[in-house]
Amino acid sequence: MKVGIYPGSFDPVTKGHLDIIERSSKMIDKLIVAVLNNNSKSPLFSVEERVNMLREVTKGIDNVVVDSFSGLTVDYAQRNHANIIVRGLRAVTDFEYELQMAQTNRIMVNSIDTIFLTTSLQYAYLSSSIVKEVAVNNGDVSKFVPEYVVKKIQDKLNIS
Ligand code: PNS
Repeated sequence: MKVGIYPGSFDPVTKGHLDIIERSSKMIDKLIVAVLNNNSKSPLFSVEERVNMLREVTKGIDNVVVDSFSGLTVDYAQRNHANIIVRGLRAVTDFEYELQMAQTNRIMVNSIDTIFLTTSLQYAYLSSSIVKEVAVNNGDVSKFVPEYVVKKIQDKLNIS
């Protein structure tokens, strides 16, 4: 059984993330979308809220489960018998950081490989940070995040 993990901050999940989830879940038997519990960032949504949003927007995909983790991605992957890490590549600006992480992870655990999916063109510019910036300035984020997440952002920022 091929198990993959798609780790990230997902603060919040965007249509770009969902695109990667939908496409990569077709390539493997089980995909674990794993939200990093990172104390050093100050997120808009709690880990629990991010997990709940991801569960809601992926509920139609049978082989996807959503979880959270702390510590190293490779340790979490090993605990869950995953030997594939999935990451999306938007543009060349992502490449250096992603390569560094993939190489480091593979040196730490040789049996885990990272696969990169190029983000679909319509989401190539998209990031959770941009979504938050648009939202806090009262912009419409419905083109960028699933409808359910639009509502959660509005609730969080007290806007409608
Ligand atoms: O969505 P993000 O913030 O780009 O995701 C980054 C993430 C969570 C994949 C990365 O920060 C991560 O794996 N953090 C856990 C600690 C770790 O394993 N670091 C990799 C060693 S270089």
